[in-house]
Amino acid sequence: MRLRTGAVLALAGSLGAAATATGAMREVEVRGARAVVDARAHDRRAVELVPGRSASLRAAPAFVAGLQARARSAGCRAARLTIEAGGRTRHFTVGPRFRHRALKLAAPLASRQIRVTTAMTSSRCRVRLDWLMVRAAASPRTLAPGLPLRSVPLGTAVSLPWLSEPAYTSTLLSAFRSITPENELKMDRTQPRQGEFHFEHGDALVAFAAAHGRTVRGHTLIYGVQTPAWVGQLLFATQVENVLRTHVATEIRHFKSRIREWDVVNEALDSRGRLSRNPFADRLGPRYVDMAYETARGADPTAKLYYNEFAAELPGTKQDAMFTLVSRLKQRGLIDGVGFQLHTGIGTAPTEEELVATMRRFEALGLEIQITEMDVAAKGNGQQSLAARLAAQAAAYGAAASACRRVLACKRLTVWGVTDRYSWRTPAELPLLFDVEYAPKPALAAVTAALG
Ligand code: G3I
Repeated sequence: MRLRTGAVLALAGSLGAAATATGAMREVEVRGARAVVDARAHDRRAVELVPGRSASLRAAPAFVAGLQARARSAGCRAARLTIEAGGRTRHFTVGPRFRHRALKLAAPLASRQIRVTTAMTSSRCRVRLDWLMVRAAASPRTLAPGLPLRSVPLGTAVSLPWLSEPAYTSTLLSAFRSITPENELKMDRTQPRQGEFHFEHGDALVAFAAAHGRTVRGHTLIYGVQTPAWVGQLLFATQVENVLRTHVATEIRHFKSRIREWDVVNEALDSRGRLSRNPFADRLGPRYVDMAYETARGADPTAKLYYNEFAAELPGTKQDAMFTLVSRLKQRGLIDGVGFQLHTGIGTAPTEEELVATMRRFEALGLEIQITEMDVAAKGNGQQSLAARLAAQAAAYGAAASACRRVLACKRLTVWGVTDRYSWRTPAELPLLFDVEYAPKPALAAVTAALG
């Protein structure tokens, strides 16, 4: 593989398979060509480089900013960071006035490999760093050829009733590697009356997924909008807390080992970043979110726990509020990832760079990331042809997919439905990857090409 300036690729090969499983990240930049690889603390696997060249390593600014924020929030003045490269070791103290340039380390390469080892501990401050993002700048020919690309799985929301339609099922199986039950796992469906649990529809979807080798995202345990009315009639906070804890524990235990990742709380925040009103928030305040995650963690310690939010993809008050909320959960060890829904449209969809910046902000907290509910309305204003609108839609999907692929913490892109025919946004908005007749749209090619 020849590197072209500006190309983006992911290093895998000897590094990639195991490294992807760790969820950590290292970024290597080669004169505009960029590769993204994984690296955990104490990870001694090597990045392949051509002998005789030199490379320099530099902590990415986003990484340093995240580190400083973590140190600050833990009450630390400084923390220690160690980098080993090309047989040389350097230690850095990352204090409030630390600048990323200070990390620069030039390392002549005597062999084909450069080793990057990172560790940061500060027992006094109780901060532990378990990943590092660095840039290795080197000549274009220093990267070894032939390293395969990382690919990101594509998933979709699925509704049980449509599985009886052969075209729906064959389209689903032709393009998607994971499924998210669109409504079947929500509380109004799984506990419509207090103490009466119904998992038949969820079980059917999980069985379908298992029969076809697909994974399932658990969506969602606590979601204000789809909370059954009876919860709102409970008078006392203790009753509501009992209901919340019983619901989360019962559902997550029911699907234990069959559903490995959950949106524990969905959309706790309104569009201005304030706590959204719902029966849990009204009786318990913001602590209901923590209660849900505490209970989920206790009920299935091996499940990945996500927080899923809408309209938080771009910087602003809402994103800041989400950042604060998930930082608190992460500090308590209660959360593993964040989902950005990405219900958007042509003309308003975020750019690739905007999404990368957002993802890196949350990645710096040590969280996994997913795009969880993407759809792009392509209705238009009557001035653009259908072909132009579908091309703009394809570009928006492609940009999101590329962003996800570039940020190693980003684990999956899920679209919110198989076909325009059954989109919650209505078929007229043409928001998905297949049209109402199940024909693939330009967006399908764009998204699959970008995900790899
Ligand atoms: O199944 C019943 C049907 O029996 C009944 O006759 C009919 C009458 O209205 O309602 C049907 O249920 C509807 C259900 O979708 C299935 O079509 C519900 O009323 C309707 O509220 C529900 O809407 C869902 C919505 O969440 C509820 O908030 C959408 O399908 C679903 O796509 C949407 O998904 C949400 C995510 O969970 C969270 N993020 C936003 C996203 C879009 O709103």
